[in-house]
Amino acid sequence: MSISYVNGRYVPHHEASVHIEDRGFQFADAVYEVFAVQGAHLIDENGHLERLERSLGELNIPMPMIHAALKLVMRQLLRANRLRYGSLYLQVSRGVAPRDFPAPHGLTPTLVMTVMRQKPFDPVSALKGTKVITTPDIRWKRCDIKTVQLLAGVMSKTAAYAQGAAEAWLLDDQDNITEGSSSNAWIVTADDELVTRHTDHAILGGITRKTVMKLAEQNGLMYIERTFSLGEAKAAREAFTTSSTVMVRPVTYIDDSPIGDGVCGPFCQKLIELYGAYMKQGPSA
Ligand code: PDD
Repeated sequence: MSISYVNGRYVPHHEASVHIEDRGFQFADAVYEVFAVQGAHLIDENGHLERLERSLGELNIPMPMIHAALKLVMRQLLRANRLRYGSLYLQVSRGVAPRDFPAPHGLTPTLVMTVMRQKPFDPVSALKGTKVITTPDIRWKRCDIKTVQLLAGVMSKTAAYAQGAAEAWLLDDQDNITEGSSSNAWIVTADDELVTRHTDHAILGGITRKTVMKLAEQNGLMYIERTFSLGEAKAAREAFTTSSTVMVRPVTYIDDSPIGDGVCGPFCQKLIELYGAYMKQGPSA
């Protein structure tokens, strides 16, 4: 049994609950973050907290507490669960109010956190190739805000799983890939160009994406942020996804097209190695 955090209390998971008129439940009026936990450390803790603050700011929801206090609560929760490997989920909603569309002022935000135990990141099993399907991106126009309004992602990921794939890559109206249901998309072109889509309101600026960029740069792997099409992705030498839950995951099939040699390629291999080493370093930027 795990311990969760709800508005100031550490409670057994099965007792953790919020009010039925919480605006997160009624309107998806809430944002969240998922932190990877490796060796009892929260990976890219500051990056996630900064994005949390940005998401809340875009919706005029106040931060439930300052960064230092959130860090204390998260550490306390990891300790209470003796969690060394897995993830920590944090959600902030606008709060509880009688159901009405306009956002009321002055609500106390709801803050909940849960943990999930997982195996440590293993850079060898991480090399295993995966398949992605592609599907139209039917989400709203502010995908840069990490809201819990995730129904489109639920639908595309469910379709992916039903077809034996690990992820769905989403296509805009011009058949360009925006990102995955819950990850960022990358390719290595036939000209050895490492590419991921630029950030704007159409995708979430992934924290793992940012760290992978930093690691690539530090290790002499040049990357470019630009739009890329489904055709380009299918003709790519390599493809992979990044997120706090999959870290760096090779994509060896897009729909029914094998990518490159159908196995994890050298760029992706190198990035898995670098990312694994980065997480082992412990507390970071
Ligand atoms: N999802 N794009 C989308 C749409 C996402 O939902 C996520 C993460 C990412 C990658 O972001 P990051 O590297 O910061 O995890 C990109 C989380 C893991 C989730 O919803 O569970």
